[in-house]
Amino acid sequence: MTIQPTILVTGGAGYIGSHVCAALHEAGFTPVVLDNLSAGPAAALRQRVQWGPFIEADVRDSQALITAIEAYQPVAVMHFAALIAVGESVVNPGPTYDVNVGGSLQLLQAMQATGVKKLVFSSTAATYGTPEVVPIPESAPTLPINPYGHSKLMVEQMLADFGTAFGLKRVVLRYFNAAGARPELGLGYVRHAPSHLIPLLLRGALGLGPTLQVMGTDYPTPDGTAIRDYLHVADLADAHVLALRHLLAGHDSCTLNAGTSQGASVQQVLAAAAHVIGQPVPHTTGPRRAGDPALLVADATQLQQQLGWRPARSSLNQILTDDWAWHQTLAKA
Ligand SMILES: NC(=O)c1ccc[n+]([C@@H]2O[C@H](COP(=O)([O-])OP(=O)(O)OC[C@H]3O[C@@H](n4cnc5c(N)ncnc54)[C@H](O)[C@@H]3O)[C@@H](O)[C@H]2O)c1
Repeated sequence: MTIQPTILVTGGAGYIGSHVCAALHEAGFTPVVLDNLSAGPAAALRQRVQWGPFIEADVRDSQALITAIEAYQPVAVMHFAALIAVGESVVNPGPTYDVNVGGSLQLLQAMQATGVKKLVFSSTAATYGTPEVVPIPESAPTLPINPYGHSKLMVEQMLADFGTAFGLKRVVLRYFNAAGARPELGLGYVRHAPSHLIPLLLRGALGLGPTLQVMGTDYPTPDGTAIRDYLHVADLADAHVLALRHLLAGHDSCTLNAGTSQGASVQQVLAAAAHVIGQPVPHTTGPRRAGDPALLVADATQLQQQLGWRPARSSLNQILTDDWAWHQTLAKA
């Protein structure tokens, strides 16, 4: 019997982490999830852990991290555990820094203490702030405009410092907007109060949540609504497996945008959603949300060139079709 290599996945019960665990399983790895189930209804998060052991623990708990690493001997770590609400990070920055920076520090120290030297880290387009050049290359200035973006950039710096000091090799993936679902695996977005456009609009359409409010119709974009780069969460998961293979093959550290290089405005998403669900999406309009740039689109050339990644499911139509199927199962539950 072949023993599958294990990967420690912090935040593996989360939206992106759970899709990555599915992809790891499909690629012949065993994910070991460490998660405190804080991001939504605990039972729904727990159900996402399907492909390996689960440790219910906080990423700030250094003893839990060391015990998990000693017990399962992972060949690498994937680090998703974080507080992700940008707006909350602005009004109350303490918890975001505590979990995102403090938790990452505990993880890095546990990895140093146990000799695990490979890490894939979830960073964000929010590290760029308001970009001057779009599509945004990785070489663009990193000038975050909210504590969430600052917290992720601080961790990127910590990773570089741990790389210098003890040889940590890492792939930093700066995600743009992850969306979509894998309803056939029971995986999708389950938060009580989503802050992302697509879950908000689908919940509104199904009566599972309030009617969508389009925040800002006066941006300097062709139709006045903000433009984002939507990436199917399953394609993003594939990028993680490629990043892991890159590290396991002994290649060097890198920081890569994870996006499609294509932008869609809120109005375009609403039109595509109306096509998928067969009716107009109910919505109202309101003022801009503080801290939201007009335009965030990746230059994803490096991800394609360095890791050989190709997005297979990231058309708006596919993202919305999968997410609609997932939200319909939520509505029936
Ligand atoms: N969703 C996006 O579009 C997006 C974009 C850019 C970056 N990211 C990053 O990707 C990662 C995953 O995001 P997501 O959308 O899956 O969010 P999520 O909230 O669904 O997942 C985060 C997971 O971390 C867990 N967690 C939170 N605090 C923890 C703690 N102290 N200890 C242990 N576990 C803890 C949560 O329970 C949850 O399961 C995050 O690091 C986020 O910053 C996401």
